[in-house]
This record gives sequence, structure tokens and C-alpha cells, in this order.
Amino acid sequence: MYRYDEFDAKFVKERVDQFRDQISRRLSGELTEDEFKPLRLMNGLYLQLHAYMLRVAVPYGTLSSKQMRMLGHIARKYDRGYGHFTTRQNIQFNWPALEDIPAILDDLASVEMHAIQTSGNCIRNTSADHFAGAAADEVADPRVYAEIIRQWSTIHPEFTFLPRKFKICVIGAEKDRAAMKTHDIGLQVKRNEAGDLGFAVFVGGGQGRTPMIAKRVNDFVAENDIIAYCEAILRVYNMYGRRDNKYKARIKILVHETGIDVLRKDIEAEFERIKDGVLRLPDESIRAIEEYFADPDFEKLPSTSKAFEDRLASDRAFAIFAERNLHPHKKMGYTSVVVSVKPAGSPPGDATDDQLEAIADIGEKYSFDELRISHEQNVILPHVKLDDLPAVYDALVEAKLHSANAGLITDMIVCPGLDYCALANARSIPVAQRLSERFEDIERQKDIGELKLKISGCINACGHHHVGHIGILGVDRKGEELYQITLGGSGDENTSIGKIAGRGFTSDEIVDAVETVVDTYMDVREKADEAFIDTYRRVGDAPFKEALYG
Ligand code: HEM
Ligand code: SF4
Repeated sequence: MYRYDEFDAKFVKERVDQFRDQISRRLSGELTEDEFKPLRLMNGLYLQLHAYMLRVAVPYGTLSSKQMRMLGHIARKYDRGYGHFTTRQNIQFNWPALEDIPAILDDLASVEMHAIQTSGNCIRNTSADHFAGAAADEVADPRVYAEIIRQWSTIHPEFTFLPRKFKICVIGAEKDRAAMKTHDIGLQVKRNEAGDLGFAVFVGGGQGRTPMIAKRVNDFVAENDIIAYCEAILRVYNMYGRRDNKYKARIKILVHETGIDVLRKDIEAEFERIKDGVLRLPDESIRAIEEYFADPDFEKLPSTSKAFEDRLASDRAFAIFAERNLHPHKKMGYTSVVVSVKPAGSPPGDATDDQLEAIADIGEKYSFDELRISHEQNVILPHVKLDDLPAVYDALVEAKLHSANAGLITDMIVCPGLDYCALANARSIPVAQRLSERFEDIERQKDIGELKLKISGCINACGHHHVGHIGILGVDRKGEELYQITLGGSGDENTSIGKIAGRGFTSDEIVDAVETVVDTYMDVREKADEAFIDTYRRVGDAPFKEALYG
């Protein structure tokens, strides 16, 4: 895991001190809210419907038990006892008092965390596959490059005032578990025919009111050139991105309006100009960062575990959990565990202070002190011995974090919606709660199989509804909250944007409507293991529309 050097530590501390002063001027009335706004946004502090909201970055989703414990402490001491994991590997605190923010930032800094560049028109937290460094199918650990990008992009003088916010995502496997193609830049680590490491580079993805899938701009950019290549993309965007219209300012619009082929020429020309300069990454720098992400001390283990097998045979709930929430690990005898932060009836992604601390303890004891946040608002224990799974499961049961629903219908992504968000048109959380209660029966969920349900409370699409197999979008129709259903979206290596099924449903109707979609799928699927998205792609939306609207 990356550790701050003296420059990082000094920079973060100076930023906290600077912001403390700005907050005190706001509190004394010396600064108006309007004057304060750009200052607070530079420190990840939003003003929501009821209170300020602090967004804290978890770079590439990786954190230590100590850091997770500190998040628990902050939730308890300064918030209302919980934190909210987001789709970009951040955590948000919804109820901090303004006067407490400096203390919170001090606490975060003490464990090498901060809220810098979690807002504003800059390069945001670079996200990565949450199984990075652990997955069996990985070419190389994408976090090495995400960390290099973090160092390059943090207060980059040229890219602090871009036309709009800018999001980068790095994955290290063919399988996309991080919705890479919904990002402004998506990087996929790969090897070329000579065996050298490099990247397929995608640009112009994004959700919001005009959803777009990122387009491939280059099939192979060498490892040493990746920062120069990103810089070239950012320069072209900074120059041509539309500053006149907020809704057309993302790079996805530039790509769409200019065409990827024209834009590629500009990017390549800029890249040619700068690639052999200071931005070229020397091998030794990459290898030095790689050291930070070196494997922990894995033991040499057999591929099976008696303790694990015995428990599988004797405990049905454990067996279902193991079937759903484990992910293949690159080392024999180990596995990654998805800790679902989606127990039935609770707001998806919300973890209490006790739960945050419990996860920290479990990670410390059973996962080499390492934890991950997934873009699906869950926590991952990346390296768990099969032998330890019974104990890990028991500890998760104790913390009420044992839902065996990873990848199933109740493992939803849900934005905060009208319960918190100043931009919302409709509530998301109560709909999610009712859906998770309706589909609570785990045997039924298993029967339905893999299904990504995603809910946003407005067109901004924080809840990823465009790339949900079933997406729900809250809209406001003359003061009434309505919910539109989209079908056929997907946020993996076959990313697709869902299609609106038809008129929206009221809050009272929406749960039944989703059930109608699910029942229709169960009727038309060819066999029990044909996943929802595959069935949808085979039959199209006609049977679903017919069932929903007659
Ligand atoms: C509660 C405070 C929040 C505010 C004020 C907020 C604000 C926004 C806005 C204005 C956009 C539109 C961006 C655009 O025009 O492209 C947006 C998009 C987005 N937000 Fe949020 N958001 C909030 C919470 C969240 C949460 C909780 C998540 C994760 C669950 C999230 C993740 C995202 C994502 C993934 C997008 C997609 C846009 C894209 O990348 O193209 N946001 N947000
Ligand atoms: S989708 Fe809309 S309602 Fe939901 S968090 Fe984003 S901006 Fe707010």
C-alpha cells in the first residue's frame, strides 16, 4: 500500500491549516456562503439539503485497517454514526458541523487521508478494480498506475480549472469490474505481443444527462508513456472542451461532437511533442511505486481447506455466502471476500461506526491489514485464507455485514437522492429499501441470478442507472416523484446504456413494476443460468414493455 512521503504529509497538513483559517472566516461572517463556496469545494465540502457533506477520497479504493478505523471514529464523533460509500471509491459524511471540519481533516491527515480534489473541475480520485493485486485474472496491479496518476494529477497546475470534473479509472484485467468505460479516461493494463506492459486507452465515457461509452483512442500506450499520454488528452480537452455550457463541458461531448478520429489526431500530435520530455516515466520510478504494492507475505497453501469444506457442508447460510461473495484469488488457498454493505431494508452503502470498526478489525486479523471499497458501494477483504473463512463469516454475522447478495438484485447501487441531495428530483433510498425488502428471500434472489439494479434520484446519474441491467431514474412530474425504468444497461467490459422502457411509475407502483420486469425475465429466459442481461440482449425490450404497459 502506498505510504505518504514527507512532501505528501507536509502538503496535506498545509492544506488543512489553510482551510481551517477559511472556515473560521466563514464562521465569523467575514466570508459569505458565496465567497466560501469555491474554497470549500476545493476541500471536498458540499452544501446539501440539510447540512454540509464531506467527501473523503480513498485513492483507488485501497485503505488500511487503521484508516478504516479512523472513518469509524469520524462517523461516531462528528457525524450521526455512519458513513456512506460512493461509486467512486470515496466515503461521504452527511452531517458534519462546519466548525468540526478542521478537526475531521486533522484526524484524516493523521492516517494519510484527505478530501482534496474530491470536488471541483479537476482530476478526481482515480479509481481501480477493487480486486486489484488479488484477482486471479489480472495482468498487473492497476493501482501502481493509479498511484502514479494520483501523484501527477494532485494539484496539477494546468488541470485545476478544467471545463468540468475529470475522472480516470484503471483496470488490470480483461474483465471490467470498475465501470471503466463510464469514465473520462479509462485505462486497461495489458501486454503487447512482445510481452511489454502498456495500456489500451479509452476516452469520453460518462453518465449524467448525456450518457456515453468511452471510445478506444489507442490500443497500446507503453507503460513509460502513460502520463505523457494522459497529459496530451487533458491538454486537448482543456483547450477544446466547451466552457460556455456546463451541460456540454465534459470530454464525452467533445469526443461526440468532434469525432474520435479527429480528436485522436490532436491527442497523438500533442503526445508526440511531449512524450520524450519530463513526463516519460523511467522504469525505476515505476518499479519503485510497484514496491509499495508488493504482495503481502502469502503462505504456500493447498488449494482446498478442510475447515472451509466442513463448514460448507454443515451450514447452508455460509454455503450461500461462499457461493456469492467470494472471488478467485491469484494465490492458492486464498480468496477475496465481498462484504456487502446492503443488508435488507437499509440504505445501500451506509455503514455504521461499529461496522466500520468491525471491518477494520476483520481486515487486520484476516486480510493482511488491507481493505478495498468497491464502486458498487461494498467493502472487500482482498486476501483471506480459505481456512479463515468460517471465522471471517462469524465476525461478519456479528457486525450484520453477512448479506450473501453480492451481484444479486438487492446488491444495488443507489445515490442519496432527495433524502440528502440538493439536486435530487426524487427519493432513491426509500425505493431501494422497499425493493430490498420485497426481494429479501435469498433463495429467490439466487434463482433470479446476477442482476444489477441501480437507482439515481435525478438525471446526473450518480446511482449509475444508465448502466444498470435494470435502472431506475427518479424524475419530478409537477411535484410528484416518478420513477422511470431503463433496461439493458451494463457497466462491465460489454458496457451498454440502458433504454427507457416507457412512462414513469409512482412511488407506490415502482416496486411492483420492478417485480414485473423480473418475473417477465424469469418467464422468457431460456434456462435458469441465462443471466438477465443476456436474456434482455436476446429478446430485446418488447416482452418487458408488454408486461409493464400492456
Ligand atoms: C450527495 C451529494 C452529491 C452531489 C451534490 C452530487 C453531484 C453530482 C452531479 C452534479 C453530477 C453530474 C455530473 C455531470 O454533469 O456529469 C454527478 C454525477 C455523478 N456522481 Fe454525484 N453527487 C452526489 C453524490 C454522489 C454519490 C453518493 C455518488 C455515488 C453513489 C456519486 C457519484 C457520481 C457519479 C458516478 C456520477 C456520474 C457522472 C459521470 O461521471 O459522468 N455522487 N454528481
Ligand atoms: S443522481 Fe442526482 S439525486 Fe442522486 S446524488 Fe447524484 S445529483 Fe443527487
